[in-house]
Amino acid sequence: MDALVFFILALFSLSSTLFIIEASKIQSGFSVDLIHRDSPMSPFYNPSMSKLDLIRNAAFRSKTRLTRFSHSLSLLSNENFQSTESIIKPNNGDYLMRIYIGTPPVEKLAIFDTGSDLTWVQCSPCINCFAQDTPLYDRTKSSSHTNLTCDTQSCTLLPKKQQFCGKSQECLYSYHYGDKSFSVGELVVDSISFGSNSGVDVNNVDMTFPKSIFGCGYYNIFTADNSGKTSGLVGLGAGPLSLVSQLGHSIGRKFSYCLVPFGSNSTSKLTFGNQSTITGNEVVSTPLIIKSLEPTFYFVNLEGITIGQKTIQTGQIDGNIIIDSGTTLTYLEQPFFDDFVTSVKEAIGLEEAVDIPSPFHYCFEDPNSMFPSIVLHFTGANVPLQPKNVLLLEENNLVCLAIVPSNIAGISILGNLAQIDFQVEYDLDGKKLSFAPSDCTKN
Ligand SMILES: *[C@@H]1O[C@H](CO)[C@@H](O)[C@H](O)[C@H]1NC(C)=O
Ligand SMILES: *[C@@H]1O[C@H](CO)[C@@H](O)[C@H](O)[C@H]1NC(C)=O
Ligand SMILES: *[C@@H]1O[C@H](CO)[C@@H](O)[C@H](O)[C@H]1NC(C)=O
Repeated sequence: MDALVFFILALFSLSSTLFIIEASKIQSGFSVDLIHRDSPMSPFYNPSMSKLDLIRNAAFRSKTRLTRFSHSLSLLSNENFQSTESIIKPNNGDYLMRIYIGTPPVEKLAIFDTGSDLTWVQCSPCINCFAQDTPLYDRTKSSSHTNLTCDTQSCTLLPKKQQFCGKSQECLYSYHYGDKSFSVGELVVDSISFGSNSGVDVNNVDMTFPKSIFGCGYYNIFTADNSGKTSGLVGLGAGPLSLVSQLGHSIGRKFSYCLVPFGSNSTSKLTFGNQSTITGNEVVSTPLIIKSLEPTFYFVNLEGITIGQKTIQTGQIDGNIIIDSGTTLTYLEQPFFDDFVTSVKEAIGLEEAVDIPSPFHYCFEDPNSMFPSIVLHFTGANVPLQPKNVLLLEENNLVCLAIVPSNIAGISILGNLAQIDFQVEYDLDGKKLSFAPSDCTKN
């Protein structure tokens, strides 16, 4: 076995035994609400914005996120691996979740992010924080906090380039997010709790993980959000510091979500532990491919796509698409995207619209026309998409394809529209990603 792969595997098994977090009600798992930032349940909700504006904004966020992924992944190629630049992580996303920190627990609304590992919140005493409506995390007011020094094993879980040591040997982190956003602070240990219902008050916290490691960020710049509504980020990537890795065996290292359609009044659900296992005869699974140099991202292998009667192949085998919850549209690498869109045009047989609004690349004008069936072929798993997963209705009866070309070589992303009304299960121990069609408003 490759020495580096071995090292990463060793780190993984170490991390899962390090943090066997005890929780009394964990047996069956638990679930929390995921709040779409543009839904009526979100503090960002703005009823005066049209659906079109919302989609355009979402598409814009997708694009900046794609750029950040690419910075991060450029470290995968050897030629850039010597770069001294910090690994850059995406910082924005479409979904929010509530977490409760410390004892007594204090509510935080944070960005849910499967594209990064470190969970962090703004923390006092703050040197530079972005606007926040609620008080900063103050560990001196939490009876359950402990500090970490540089010589602790937990501190070594930070990637080397993102870890440094303070004057009193405190474990410091520095996360840069590609644009001018970053968070710098101290790694600390305290309880993180979840409530099972939306709008729970702090007396109604359901599930507590007493010794969670997260960042107490006291130098934070967040260019994407100056609304004052969020106070940090929950990292659910595949790396050793992510919340899913920390909760470890107590949740069987797995989670699933079910995303409701855009504009729905129900909330999407994120489920941890045994409850997150999806069942039924429509479940299909594909191997999860975690790349050792960048273990954060959930790669799977997309072998091809069937459009109507025609199947096109990517010809790839070792993980060519990232499954992401924070990117709205789906991005396909060139030239595969060109084959795909050519096949869609052939199957629809309609004139392409003249004025194609950015960020789309293909629109047509008849919303009642027959749209061909589209099936994604992941290794071992065929996933039939519905029109709501691939089409967006624009103004003036214009229908646009929610799948666009990735302008960055080597990066394709399955975005969240394509995952709507599917249960999607991430099983890190089982190394598989599973899909099952579902009515997510009924969960
Ligand atoms: C989850 O389910 C599996 C299989 O049913 C069982 O072996 C395991 O003990 C359960 N885990 C927890 C934490 O209850
Ligand atoms: C942790 O560090 C902070 C800042 O230096 C300090 O205020 C706090 O008392 C320390 N907590 C413990 C438990 O030592
Ligand atoms: C959501 O709720 C609002 C107000 O209760 C209602 O007008 C709207 O039709 C609902 N939307 C859906 C998709 O159910």
